[in-house]
Amino acid sequence: MDLYEYQARDLFESHGVPVLRGITATTAAEARQAAEDLGTPVVVVKAQVKTGGRGKAGGVKVAKSAEEAEARANDILGMDIKGHTVRTVMIAEGADIAEEYYFSLLLDRANRSYLAMCSKEGGVEIETLAEERPEALARVEVDPLVGIDQAKADEIVAAAGFDAEDQPKIAAVLIKLWDVYAGEDATLVEVNPLIKTGAGDIVALDGKVTLDDNAEFRHPDHVALHDDQSTDPLEVKAKSLGLQYVKLDGNVGIIGNGAGLVMSTLDVVAYAGEEFPGSPKPANFLDIGGGASAEVMSNGLSIIFSDPAVQSVFVNVFGGITACDAVANGIIQAFELLGAQGATHKPVVVRLDGNNAELGRKMLDEAALPNLERVDTMDDAARRVAELASRAN
Ligand SMILES: Nc1ncnc2c1ncn2[C@@H]1O[C@H](COP(=O)(O)OP(=O)(O)OP(=O)(O)O)[C@@H](O)[C@H]1O
Ligand SMILES: [Mg+2]
Repeated sequence: MDLYEYQARDLFESHGVPVLRGITATTAAEARQAAEDLGTPVVVVKAQVKTGGRGKAGGVKVAKSAEEAEARANDILGMDIKGHTVRTVMIAEGADIAEEYYFSLLLDRANRSYLAMCSKEGGVEIETLAEERPEALARVEVDPLVGIDQAKADEIVAAAGFDAEDQPKIAAVLIKLWDVYAGEDATLVEVNPLIKTGAGDIVALDGKVTLDDNAEFRHPDHVALHDDQSTDPLEVKAKSLGLQYVKLDGNVGIIGNGAGLVMSTLDVVAYAGEEFPGSPKPANFLDIGGGASAEVMSNGLSIIFSDPAVQSVFVNVFGGITACDAVANGIIQAFELLGAQGATHKPVVVRLDGNNAELGRKMLDEAALPNLERVDTMDDAARRVAELASRAN
């Protein structure tokens, strides 16, 4: 889960990372009140959207009075930034910026490690810096079992080339940012810019944090950070049903058991789709896991049927501990449940293989379910489901 800047700011604060005061507002009047409450001569009105480049898009504006904050909030609220509508702004204290730096810590999957990146040149688009002058961006591996202790923090600030007098203060902040990363089970903590103020203090002025959803069971307080408004409604519904569902932008609904099988199903369908007009593509990822009970199957199918983009559905199951006859039974009962609910059927192609495949296939054939076709192999089923989606267009 990605956090909004104001949520990252609050997490930083709770771990002792120096931040400036900030108050969120959802109306221009609230923004004016927030600026009055802050009481500083300068405030900054900042769009709260889960995407980068807000400043460039006109979503970060300085205001020198409460009236001006109200006017800027009025401009920014409702603005579209890279497909994200601004519903909230943060009114932040204006900082006296002497220098802008960059720091991030992230999960480095390829090296099974963490990676810290740090530069004296922050504020700008870091991708551009990394490309044009990679030597200006220090990259330091961080051992997950050790983290950023004093020695590692010293190594990072030295690698980034900070002046000797600035190094201790910056290193102290990096140790606190490690505390955020490890303590909150984050996979990304990015501060751009990390600033030095005119008075020489180090402050995190903008924060991006991604939390590891798989660690949420350890953090009951993270539930309050969920934001259904910026999540796809079908994903919200699927989550409430305990399904592993990710919305994609194609038109072939996909259900499978096991993440690996579903991933390869996405590939096979995308590949098969290239043969047909309109090039049908997967509309979603949906892993129903090991057990394929009638309830799980009908929940999965109903989520997919309710996606208006879906033209055909591929149910791809490899029977293991849950054998194919149990899965067939799940599908048959799911059709009964959905039929009783009046859910409209889109064409469904089923491929069953693995444990008890013969029996499962026979059961499906005998049930003669409406709008359901059975195909023996994964490749043929993918081709058929792509053809059905293509024809529907
Ligand atoms: N509280 C503040 N006081 C003074 N200047 C600020 C403040 N917040 C941001 N700025 C200035 O605005 C610039 C952009 O702000 P910020 O980094 O928050 O947004 P952004 O980088 O455009 O957005 P994103 O990080 O989403 O790409 C900063 O580099 C800084 O110069
Ligand atoms: Mg930034």
